[in-house]
Amino acid sequence: MAHDEVSGHDATASDSSAVEASRGTSTGTAVIASDVANPGEPPHRERITDLDPKEAKKAQRSIYTLFYLSIAGSIFALAAYMAFPIEDGDISAIRLNTMFIGIGCALALFGIGLAAVHWGKALMYDKEGIDERHPVRGTDETRARAVEIFHEADQESGFGRRTLIRNSLIGAIIAFPLPGLVLFRGLAPQDQDPVELLSHTMWEKGARLTLDPSGIPVKASDVTIGSAFHIIPEGLNDRHDWLEQKAKAAVLLMRLNPDDLNITPGRESWSYDGIVAYSKICTHVGCPVALYEQQTHHLLCPCHQSTFDVVNECEVIFGPAKRPLPQLPITVDDEGYLVAQSDFHEPVGPSFWERQ
Ligand code: FES
Repeated sequence: MAHDEVSGHDATASDSSAVEASRGTSTGTAVIASDVANPGEPPHRERITDLDPKEAKKAQRSIYTLFYLSIAGSIFALAAYMAFPIEDGDISAIRLNTMFIGIGCALALFGIGLAAVHWGKALMYDKEGIDERHPVRGTDETRARAVEIFHEADQESGFGRRTLIRNSLIGAIIAFPLPGLVLFRGLAPQDQDPVELLSHTMWEKGARLTLDPSGIPVKASDVTIGSAFHIIPEGLNDRHDWLEQKAKAAVLLMRLNPDDLNITPGRESWSYDGIVAYSKICTHVGCPVALYEQQTHHLLCPCHQSTFDVVNECEVIFGPAKRPLPQLPITVDDEGYLVAQSDFHEPVGPSFWERQ
């Protein structure tokens, strides 16, 4: 019985293949033309702009006006960026800034979009055409025809001929990204040079080293051999921009046996009795270097495993970082508290800044 069913199925399949072969079609991709009546094309309807040159002229005016409106929107957004600067902590300034820049950008996009749609509907060639299916790979004739089609499209859309529309479109497209470019400047604080800001930290001569996050000053006698502390500058917690400052000024403090430290000439006074302070900001892409391996004196950045050797002034011994962690010169004040001798002698953070 089972054998019969299988035989029956095979017979049906081979019948079907024979039918397809006789019709010149292939399994799975075939549409049998005789099964579907071709409804033909609907009659072509002329547009008012095809019939009346005055209407075509009117449509053309509307289109380039919309492109100009888009340009005006972009300029408005640029002007709004300058006219409504974001003041620190002023919510209404932020609201005005974002609202007017948003209106300008919306107008710019809306103008381009509407003009493009109107151009397509009112003026571009709209005769129905039939594009027969063909193999994916184009023949030489097809390629030649493609070039021809480009020329035809240029003729029919009037892109080359209607210079006013074309130029206003190009102008609108060029103008639109400009507000986006200047908005990058807004990422930096007002009236300050971003390069200068990134080149310096809060550390200065006499600033006490305090514990992160409590802000309690650290005495040299608190730092025993083998210990490590997360450090911030004194007064950081009282600043309104404490987070930005901390992102640059965070430091790791460690004490080693002074005889274990390899110190380059000129840096002899930067440490105090084996206590050394290094920037906590990884020189790869700025993650906090948070792991200290007490036995090997290695500092490890968990982001991409850059490893710094504290014994050798935090030189890179593994990973993608390209330069050592900057050292903070330290000493002690009259009361025995650890203090900075100055700011870092180089910008902290990613290696990009050493190119300054
Ligand atoms: S940020 Fe430290 S290794 Fe990448």
